Amino acid sequence: MITKINALKEEISALVATSAEEVEQLRIKYLSKKGLVTSLFNDFRTVPAEQKREMGQLLNELKNLATDKINALKDELGNQAEAASADIDLTRTETPLPLGSRHPISLVKNEMIDIFSRMGFTIAEGPEIEDDWHVFSSLNFAADHPARDMQDTFFIMRDPADVLLRTHTSSVQTRVMEKAQPPIRIICPGRVYRNEAISARAHCFFHQVEGLYIDKNVSFADLKQALLYFARQMFGPETKIRLRPSYFPFTEPSAEMDISCGLCGGKGCGFCKNTGWVEILGCGMVDPNVLEACGIDSKEYTGYAFGMGVERITNLKYSVKDLRMFSENDVRFLHLFDAAH
Ligand code: DAH
Repeated sequence: MITKINALKEEISALVATSAEEVEQLRIKYLSKKGLVTSLFNDFRTVPAEQKREMGQLLNELKNLATDKINALKDELGNQAEAASADIDLTRTETPLPLGSRHPISLVKNEMIDIFSRMGFTIAEGPEIEDDWHVFSSLNFAADHPARDMQDTFFIMRDPADVLLRTHTSSVQTRVMEKAQPPIRIICPGRVYRNEAISARAHCFFHQVEGLYIDKNVSFADLKQALLYFARQMFGPETKIRLRPSYFPFTEPSAEMDISCGLCGGKGCGFCKNTGWVEILGCGMVDPNVLEACGIDSKEYTGYAFGMGVERITNLKYSVKDLRMFSENDVRFLHLFDAAH
């Protein structure tokens, strides 16, 4: 048995391998259940009792030698593979990762921000979870105004004070005016919520961009000029605008603005219901009550405000027929806007 052990010792010490499979073959040959080393352990039963101690020790040494050798062979091959991978040319260009595209609402919102920043407007933001004061009371909404109804507004809490999801970004006007004195020239992009059944034409959340300019001697003509510039930048230099009298609690006088229909150029088509015009926003001169509620002297300062839906502008620009497309995240729809940025 000693001869066998010594022969195996020599044999194993001299082992070489060139691949992981070869190492595995060697492991099977020597160390598996029926392997050469393992079967010596079976012969161990027949060793006379007085030699058992010595033989046991020799056998264990042989087994350790075999295990160490196999592991060493494995490590060696691993190091070689690593050395080979160091030869990879890291400057080689790879296939680029496919990039996602910007969401159409973000594209249009950013374009609106660009246009108004060129006129000196800066961005202001406010919370989506609001209170009654900032969304309604400060903006001159009467106590029984229908917008304060559960049917229009999502209330989070009604007692002891109203906590609600803002229904428009006009709430940011109040937040800014409470803190700053004129001149104030801001736009407020953000998400708003309304308690509406979801359909192609209505959604329970959407996006608005609000504008506010307050200073000495700000007039309705300034408002009209700013909106004309916006409309032509957004929809093309041929675009015409018209202002129709309207009503909002927070502006006096108030107006709604239409642009000439981009599809028929104002001649009249199905899209503009043969009028040649499509509505895009609400606006007006800030009501003195609102200025006073926010701590601004209405005898010294005047201002204008406007508010528009980003989805509406996007629909007009890209003819998206169904509002639900904007929140379903169907990549086939989103990829249509890849080229737009
Ligand atoms: N807050 C209005 C809405 O959600 C939009 C609006 C109209 C904002 C007129 C204004 C404005 O600032 O002057 O329908």
